[in-house]
Amino acid sequence: MVELTRVSHTFGSQWALKDISFKLGKGEFMFLTGHSGAGKSTLLKLLYGALPLKRGKARVCGFELNKLRRGRLPLLRRRVGVVFQDFKVLPRRSVFDNVAMSLEVRGMQRTHLERRVRAIIRAMGLEAKSYTPCEFLSGGEQQRVAIARSMVAGPELILADEPTGNLDVDLTMHLMDIFKQFHNYGTSVIMATHSREVLDCVPNARTLHLERGRIVARDGVP
Ligand SMILES: Nc1ncnc2c1ncn2[C@@H]1O[C@H](COP(=O)(O)OP(=O)(O)O)[C@@H](O)[C@H]1O
Ligand SMILES: [Mg+2]
Repeated sequence: MVELTRVSHTFGSQWALKDISFKLGKGEFMFLTGHSGAGKSTLLKLLYGALPLKRGKARVCGFELNKLRRGRLPLLRRRVGVVFQDFKVLPRRSVFDNVAMSLEVRGMQRTHLERRVRAIIRAMGLEAKSYTPCEFLSGGEQQRVAIARSMVAGPELILADEPTGNLDVDLTMHLMDIFKQFHNYGTSVIMATHSREVLDCVPNARTLHLERGRIVARDGVP
């Protein structure tokens, strides 16, 4: 699903990632841990093509990122669901419309689309607000809309960057259940987190611990 070989990344003269190699199989769940500035977000952005891969090799969902031309990036992104911290929803559009967008671009049949969108909105506990414009939702609710939008198409791989950052404990647990459901259906997940509670939610997950851009421990082993 994901294979990195000696990937490094610099911002100017500063190394943000150094010699990162790992493999993630289909259906595996992996946490990225490490202090702020360790390189977690940079790694996720590389996997998604939001940053160019300049050093090393990477394959994601069958796409060689080194050889990927810009025009083919949307093909990769159709197969990868991304939940980033700086989520953006369209403020004037309803919850339903924001989520439905992901399926409309794929030309999904309307009745099928509506069923899928309603199901994920219900799973996110946003049913009562389906037709409310997103500008009237709280930050946590908007975040759940963004998550629903990136999950609704059933991606093969989910990349999540501290997705529970702004949520309270109950919502965090609820959201982790949703990620676990996807995982149980065979979706691979890579999630950056600081939170002990979040790590404890998936006891059999793999872990990659970063320090100053390097992997210093894998699966708890230094
Ligand atoms: N756009 C950028 N420009 C310059 N430096 C950056 C940029 N993004 C991240 N960095 C630097 O790269 C390092 C890794 O950052 P980041 O991947 O955001 O870490 P984390 O997500 O683990 O907190 C940090 O030193 C950070 O300051
Ligand atoms: Mg980060």
